[in-house]
Amino acid sequence: MRQIGRFGVAIACLTALSSPALSEGDASRGEASYRPCAACHMIGEGAINRVGPHLDGLMGRPVGGLSDYRYSDTLVNAGANGVTWTEDNLDRFLADPQGYYRGTRMVFRGITDAQTRADLVAYIVQEAGSYDSAAAPSTGEVPPEIAAVLAIEGDFAYGEYLSSECTACHANQSGGDIPGIAGLAPSTFIHALMSYKIGEREHQVMTMLVNRLGDEEIAALAAYFATVE
Ligand code: HEC
Ligand code: HEC
Repeated sequence: MRQIGRFGVAIACLTALSSPALSEGDASRGEASYRPCAACHMIGEGAINRVGPHLDGLMGRPVGGLSDYRYSDTLVNAGANGVTWTEDNLDRFLADPQGYYRGTRMVFRGITDAQTRADLVAYIVQEAGSYDSAAAPSTGEVPPEIAAVLAIEGDFAYGEYLSSECTACHANQSGGDIPGIAGLAPSTFIHALMSYKIGEREHQVMTMLVNRLGDEEIAALAAYFATVE
């Protein structure tokens, strides 16, 4: 119990640091900000897909998870890696859709103002409701070690600094046995790196390298490599 408590506090601190002035979202104020979304997304009970996927039951739903909607690979991969929609990653996605999920087909500039986003997220939580996992195939839980890294806002400059150790091998998009890692969505990148740390995958060099990296460093590398062509 004590361990879990400490973890929770650490995450709360990080959240507070990365968004210092974020107050509670106000769903009634958020309604107005949803208007541009409504051009592409229906929300709430009975909603159906239009240009974009419907947003009924969005909270807790796997990213790219509707079987009757054709998503980009980047969203499908994130969902296949166990990423589900939360208030936190929705907020980050809406700040910069293309930056957060590189290659997403959602053409939307993003909302820079944190309070406007908080209000909009509150509105979406209220209108969309939660995913009924009983009614859909389960994708499994994200291991807590990975969830902790996903919760961190990666420091781009620090990631760029750390990346020199990686580009020695991962120089090209793809070459022989070495997979390309440039342009991966941050969540995909984090899942891939963490799979060595938690022992889901084994590779002599990668396992050794990843075991030397802390959560902040992995999040920073993810933020950086997402932007590399
Ligand atoms: C011009 C149309 C358009 C607008 C405007 C738009 N979206 Fe999207 N949205 C899309 C498309 C298309 C996708 C699917 C993206 C993909 O597959 O990469 C998407 C995906 C999403 C997803 C992921 C859903 C899932 O099932 O994983 C969310 C959440 C979302 N949009 C929310 C919003 C919100 C909130 C707004 C308003 C701030 C908005 N969108 C504005 C077209 C749009
Ligand atoms: C000595 C060469 C080498 C170095 C240095 C190296 N990698 Fe790797 N990396 C590899 C190889 C080889 C694989 C494929 C391993 C496997 O088959 O599991 C890999 C796999 C990966 C993957 C999984 C990709 C995928 O599509 O599954 C990621 C992510 C990754 N490396 C990131 C990094 C990062 C970040 C660094 C720097 C901290 C780094 N690598 C440093 C050789 C290297």
